[in-house]
Amino acid sequence: MNLTVPLTIALSKGRIFDQTLPLLAHAGIEPLDDPETSRKLILETSNPMVKFVIIRASDVPTYVQYGAADLGVAGKDVLLEHGGEGLYEPLDLGIARCRLMVAGRPETPEPGTRRLRIATKYVHSAERHFAAKGQQVEIIKLYGSMELAPLVGLADLIVDLVESGNTLKANGLVPLEHIADISSRLVVNKASWKMKHEAVTTLLELLREAVTERQA
Ligand code: PRP
Repeated sequence: MNLTVPLTIALSKGRIFDQTLPLLAHAGIEPLDDPETSRKLILETSNPMVKFVIIRASDVPTYVQYGAADLGVAGKDVLLEHGGEGLYEPLDLGIARCRLMVAGRPETPEPGTRRLRIATKYVHSAERHFAAKGQQVEIIKLYGSMELAPLVGLADLIVDLVESGNTLKANGLVPLEHIADISSRLVVNKASWKMKHEAVTTLLELLREAVTERQA
């Protein structure tokens, strides 16, 4: 891919990085360092016009919104929380698939008996879900290990990602309500979409090709 303008791509370490790499490789973009071993936060790539910035998954929409990165890869869970302001979301990469769900103990009280407490890091998604059902709840913000909350009486229910369901099962919890199907999305800064249109759409089409081939 021959670019005449530089592109910065925001990625988070771990699953999203690992699963995005083969798609970017299809566009001839490969990192020159491994973020798991390097402490560098800016990685040069095999394309001198493209660099990666390595950040927390939940920060990807913010970097892209403010144009600190032209593009990024973020989970739909993170985008639902962020709200998507300043971003286009032109491509579902079909990777890191899971579901955002309400879960709890099998003997969770019926709604209506009292106001239930919901532990989650997905505060906005949880608020929207219960508001849409007309159910008044109290949301407790956590940053991880949500499955613990119902076991120690911190919350009645959790809103969390479920992939295999093993974490729920190991903690005696059951999935109760489906909120959204989640996968990673390519996001693009709105100004970059206009100002670097050719470069962005060239990369977008190569990634789209890679996604189609992967899913074939
Ligand atoms: C996620 C999620 C669940 C678990 C679900 O946590 O929060 O805890 O994976 O996967 P499963 O259904 O296959 O068991 P993750 O390990 O990504 O860490 P996190 O606490 O940082 O979200």
